[in-house]
Amino acid sequence: MATPRYDAIVLGAGAAGLMCAAVAGQRGRRVLLLDHADAVGKKILISGGGRCNFTNIHTGPDRYISANPHFAKSALARYTPADFIALVDAYGIAWHEKTLGQLFCDGSAKQIVAMLCEEAAKAGVDLRCGQAVGPVDHGDDGFRVGFGDQMFTAPSLVIATGGPSIPKMGATGLAYDLARQFGLKVVEPRPALVPLTLGGDDVLFRELSGVATPVEARAGNAAFREAALFTHRGLSGPAILQVSSYWRHGEPVAIDFLPDAASGWLAEAKRARPRTSLAAALAAALPDRLAQVLAERLALPGELGALTDRKLADAEARLARWTFHPNGTEGFAKAEVTVGGISTANLSSQTMMAKSVPGLYAVGEAVDVTGWLGGYNFQWAWASGHAAGQAL
Ligand code: FDA
Repeated sequence: MATPRYDAIVLGAGAAGLMCAAVAGQRGRRVLLLDHADAVGKKILISGGGRCNFTNIHTGPDRYISANPHFAKSALARYTPADFIALVDAYGIAWHEKTLGQLFCDGSAKQIVAMLCEEAAKAGVDLRCGQAVGPVDHGDDGFRVGFGDQMFTAPSLVIATGGPSIPKMGATGLAYDLARQFGLKVVEPRPALVPLTLGGDDVLFRELSGVATPVEARAGNAAFREAALFTHRGLSGPAILQVSSYWRHGEPVAIDFLPDAASGWLAEAKRARPRTSLAAALAAALPDRLAQVLAERLALPGELGALTDRKLADAEARLARWTFHPNGTEGFAKAEVTVGGISTANLSSQTMMAKSVPGLYAVGEAVDVTGWLGGYNFQWAWASGHAAGQAL
């Protein structure tokens, strides 16, 4: 039996693969879209608490982490949040801005998956799910891809199998295996947008499990002002997830517990209420349990009136730069995304095609481009999928 032949085979029917296949199909290409999962777009379905934070209106290259910060510019400029919003609007999907430019469906993430599936179906994409992919090789007749007990060929192959975060959702390292097979470099993948774990002295903070407060969190040169959440294993919440993408083992994470407090506020509090304790003064601005633990650790018992302004200034400085020493992260099992991936040095930023392997493309999270929390990762998946879809 002859091996069925397509113009392009796209591996992975997630956010980037669905977009890429639909765009190429709309341009008249015969596209085969393959996924080992029994259903498509599983991460889209669970994203944004089931409402899919599908883009961010503040999208720009500065919201992405990559060994080459310029790489994402071209694709992001050619397929913008406005383009995706236009598609969502064309399907009558209601949406709202939650906060910080993050756009969510009013209804359900299922609407986004249904929309992408319809776009692909309208474009004649041949979508097949639920079989193992492999082996993959390259010969005179182009790329040959095994799927279950069948074999398919095409002159173009798109790697859209994402990163290894959340294996429970069907994530695998196939993208990196294929990249290495074809001689592309892989920037060391690390879990990102992931809770941090605390040990040693910091372990005392675990008793605050469930307490959340707005902070400014810092790791390396990155700083984010959002909520931090104490957990039974360490630290989470948007501010921590954001800095986790920049954090490296062995480095501290600094937290400003009162980023809006004016300098000298504790001395002011002493003059206004000299009989009050440090814990009570802190509790005016922070959750009670957190105020209690911080006051204990600052070890300034008694009334504020009995403390020197110097001691209060030192306490203020510590509260503004409280240093945690995370002993790890909760790993790929809990990471929303992966930093690192297929090196951008090996890819064209215009088309996502491998410079050394004509016809081989990589898109989405598989590539070493990782967005901040807040819809940026889907926007990269749409934009990079679109760029490749236009080039196939
Ligand atoms: P994606 O992971 O979407 O798709 C990869 C596809 O490849 C999957 O269908 C998978 O089954 C398939 N595949 C994997 N290995 C395979 C193999 N060996 N053989 C065959 N097929 C294989 N982002 C955002 O912008 N807003 C948000 O609200 C959220 N929320 C969110 C919540 C949670 C819990 C997670 C885990 C992640 C998010 N994200 C997010 C991140 C976002 O989901 C992610 O960046 C995109 O889905 C990446 O799109 P891709 O298409 O690259 O990979």
